[in-house]
Amino acid sequence: MNAELDPIPVITIDGPSASGKGTVAERVASALGFHFLDSGALYRLTALSAMKHGVALDDEAGVAALAAGLPATFGDGAVRLADEDVTDAIRAEAVGEGASKVAALPAVRAALLERQRAYRQPPGLVADGRDMGTVVFADAATKVFLTASAEARAERRYKQLIEKGNSASLSALVADMQARDARDTARSVAPLKPAPDALLLDTTHMDIESAVQAVLAHYASRDGRQQGI
Ligand code: C5P
Repeated sequence: MNAELDPIPVITIDGPSASGKGTVAERVASALGFHFLDSGALYRLTALSAMKHGVALDDEAGVAALAAGLPATFGDGAVRLADEDVTDAIRAEAVGEGASKVAALPAVRAALLERQRAYRQPPGLVADGRDMGTVVFADAATKVFLTASAEARAERRYKQLIEKGNSASLSALVADMQARDARDTARSVAPLKPAPDALLLDTTHMDIESAVQAVLAHYASRDGRQQGI
């Protein structure tokens, strides 16, 4: 693909929960001055909205209708649902669990598709999720699949929870992580898997800054070459 056919570059960063991809994606976006899409937040907002409206998480048509009209806004470091600040609420473990359930419903994924594609605005986009490189931006020139062992990811989540003053059990977190990975990988629609043309980055023994540099170098080698940089 050349720059004329791909005028707005997209860097897709997919991977399992707590692989560090959210932080890496945000830092890459800020280094390049690109927009940032946290697609997981849209699934979390959909689950939270269903919980608030008393819609069952397996009611595919009901949840898809909520997803299609989600009154969500992002800005100033806050996520809002209608007028309510839900920045912290969407990060709750129960909402993450709910997100993973509604994300397995094809009609919900379809309802969120165009909304995600609308983030592709100049000068470029960094998109973080599970199916950014395989489905939503399958034509992106730069794709990364970020992983880390379930134990390393559980440990990172454990540290975050303890730092925020929550109690947590490491073994329960490893089990949760494995259950969520299994559900995300096994679902029939847009399963979690690397795009064939994705760079695989295992961050089990890598810090965030090294991962950011690896993604930037990969982008420079692919898109930079195309744009004559
Ligand atoms: O990335 P995050 O943990 O916020 O995502 C919450 C859930 O949303 C994931 O466990 C996954 O099931 C789902 N998701 C998805 N496709 C995406 C992003 C998130 O299915 N592109």
